[in-house]
Amino acid sequence: MEFGSLICIIILIVLVVAFILFVTFADADISLLFNHYTRKPQDFKNKVIWITGASSGIGEYLAYSLTKRHAKLALSGVNVERLNAVRERCIDFSGCAEEDILLVPFEIDNFDIHDECVKKVLDHFHQIDILVNNAGISQRADFSDIDINVDQKLFNVNVFGTINLTRKVLKHFLERKKGHFVVSSSIAGKLGVPYSSAYTGSKHALHGYFECLRSEMVEENINVTLVCPGPVFSALTDRCVTGKLGEKYDHTQQATDKKMKTERCCELMTTAIAHKLDECWICIQPILLIFYLAQYIPTIFRTVLLKLLFNKQRVMKLRQGR
Ligand SMILES: NC(=O)c1ccc[n+]([C@@H]2O[C@H](COP(=O)([O-])OP(=O)(O)OC[C@H]3O[C@@H](n4cnc5c(N)ncnc54)[C@H](OP(=O)(O)O)[C@@H]3O)[C@@H](O)[C@H]2O)c1
Repeated sequence: MEFGSLICIIILIVLVVAFILFVTFADADISLLFNHYTRKPQDFKNKVIWITGASSGIGEYLAYSLTKRHAKLALSGVNVERLNAVRERCIDFSGCAEEDILLVPFEIDNFDIHDECVKKVLDHFHQIDILVNNAGISQRADFSDIDINVDQKLFNVNVFGTINLTRKVLKHFLERKKGHFVVSSSIAGKLGVPYSSAYTGSKHALHGYFECLRSEMVEENINVTLVCPGPVFSALTDRCVTGKLGEKYDHTQQATDKKMKTERCCELMTTAIAHKLDECWICIQPILLIFYLAQYIPTIFRTVLLKLLFNKQRVMKLRQGR
């Protein structure tokens, strides 16, 4: 056999093995996994991190992950009882002082209260190093069945609340000449995820806003990390809205659902925050593979794979983790 052919066969074998390993084990994009397994875990000592949506799910477990790494936390959400429980668990996990965890409960779509909330955090800690924009609500509904006031509600919570709070905190970051915004987007921020168009639109909008912010901040030492998770265990799907205002989607999450463990998602997210990654994808298979195909071969994905892979029943099953 010629030397050239041998090299080609070896390269092919390596690629096939890499693909099999990726499909079997990868639960995040390659850059995030590389950082997670090869770089030292960062300590957040003396850093003040404000997490919105910290009363359950991803925000809650991110608080546990960060408090174990010595961050001081401001925790926001609506449910004060749940926030208190998260605060107690943070203190149990890290042994930190009570004053290292501040609760700032507020409705993120009540824009008038944002100045007061920023002041509360600054009065207490005198600085904010990282704002994790995580609060959000999801949706299941056919595109044609959505009332416009549902689109508005999702945008008020997921987008305008986040953007308004970000602008308030940005002033502080600019004064300090440093800062870091983290955003809980979703794979719905990068893909046209069916039967959640208002949610998908809101997450795409976040990418638009925060990519602009990133571009405007290149000379300011202010970073943006966009985190795009796939299905993760949390209260999100159980609290999904539909196409009618005030109506809840009829769904109860089960422990057997095929979703990522919240703890794992937040460990990976902590790595992305520590190393200031621009964007990361955190997702179980086969959705991660679909995500890669949609991003890297979009024309083939839209014209061929979409038609082959996506029918309503299959999509709903994938999204519910069934
Ligand atoms: N779980 C997933 O599969 C998944 C996938 C991709 C992206 N995400 C994103 O991750 C983020 C966190 O979601 P999660 O999965 O952890 O869901 P979750 O358990 O339902 O948590 C949502 C958080 O957002 C807060 N929130 C909701 N509406 C709010 C409002 N009007 N004002 C202030 N806070 C509000 C909730 O506070 P209260 O409970 O106190 O009301 C809660 O703390 C969301 O942005 C979501 O889009 C989740």
